[in-house]
Amino acid sequence: MNELTGKNILIGVTGGIAAYKVVEVVSRLKKLGAEVRVVMTRAAAEFVAPRTFQEITKNPVSVEMFAGTVNFHVEHIALANFADVVLIAPATANFLAKAAHGIADDLLTTIVLATTAPMMVAPSMNTRMLEHPATQANLKILESRGVKIIDAEIGLLACGTSGKGRLSEPENICAEIVKFFAPKILSGKKILVTAGGTIEPIDPVRFICNRSSGKMGYEIARAAQLHGAEVILISGNATAEVPAGVKFVKVETALEMRAAVLEEYENVDAVIMSAAVSDYRVKNVAAQKIKKSNETLTLELVKNPDILKELGQRKNHQLLVGFAAETENVIEYARGKIAEKNLDFIVANDVSQEGAGFGVDTNIASLINRAGDVESLPKMTKAELAERIIRRVAESI
Ligand code: PMT
Repeated sequence: MNELTGKNILIGVTGGIAAYKVVEVVSRLKKLGAEVRVVMTRAAAEFVAPRTFQEITKNPVSVEMFAGTVNFHVEHIALANFADVVLIAPATANFLAKAAHGIADDLLTTIVLATTAPMMVAPSMNTRMLEHPATQANLKILESRGVKIIDAEIGLLACGTSGKGRLSEPENICAEIVKFFAPKILSGKKILVTAGGTIEPIDPVRFICNRSSGKMGYEIARAAQLHGAEVILISGNATAEVPAGVKFVKVETALEMRAAVLEEYENVDAVIMSAAVSDYRVKNVAAQKIKKSNETLTLELVKNPDILKELGQRKNHQLLVGFAAETENVIEYARGKIAEKNLDFIVANDVSQEGAGFGVDTNIASLINRAGDVESLPKMTKAELAERIIRRVAESI
């Protein structure tokens, strides 16, 4: 089952050049399992042919008020009732003005008045039109009524100028819709996630690091946020894209990560430690670049604090989730870490397996609880595994 299976989405397309981008929005929503119907204004139909949306949605596309395109008794009421959510993209200044003031002079604006479904608008227009006090006031009116504004982006506009007014990218618009429907199982909860690899300096230009890309932890942060949690993401070195809306704290060394984690620890409901923390750091970091004068070079390493173990010792109300990156005896070693670090559960990944562990988009993991029960999961994307982990966390707090 996909994220939007069984969800009815009504998309209103108004007359802007960005209407072409909404073709991709519709296509993505269909792939996520949604039932989509499109209503266009006459102006929108000048930019994209209704047939394009008709082919993708496999549903008739309505433009005219009295055309009877859809085989419903009272078309605007039927379409208004169909929607679990209404998305207007692109939303022109003209549409925003009408919607803010209750003007219903075509099929789309009539539906907008008739529906009780939550509404989202994704404005797109020339910067001066967007910044005009009238448009800003209309956006405020809509927002005060609970309409979600999917903010326009800054970039090159069709009129040849550059500024704010580009339609938000299709993936962002779809992410907002997925977020809207995601069950808010972590609502009111504060979750701390660590990710990426810590960096331990050798001298001003060299360091010891590991292969963590941050993908696993960033997906966990994204999933927690999607499910309504307030998320703090403390990250070492990583290449993954930071999820929008999380409190992001960048650190380098294990000691910095420890300090950042401890600062937040008392106020969070759960900690998920997916970071690959360096077990050792260089004892004497050279102040200047080390010269390659000798044939060999010996670095003395000292042990870093085990952050998770310390959290386990200080634990009072927090749920603690650890990771175990192993290459042998995965389950046995992971069970040992639950006891040693006082964890509620652990995610054990055999990082020697293809498609698991560092750098890749997928993972193969087992979830092990305090009693030692093992749920072995098949290979799945890190996003899917993150969803599993977050559901487990939600069941336990
Ligand atoms: O970032 P990606 O490229 O997506 O890769 C994901 C991952 C392989 C990094 C992730 O799935 C993973 O396994 N993370 C844990 C890596 C690790 O350090 O495992 P460990 O078995 O050495 O440590 C056990 C637990 O103790 C971990 O939760 C770790 O965060 C924590 N730890 C370890 C050492 C230390 N000094 N302090 C700690 O808190």
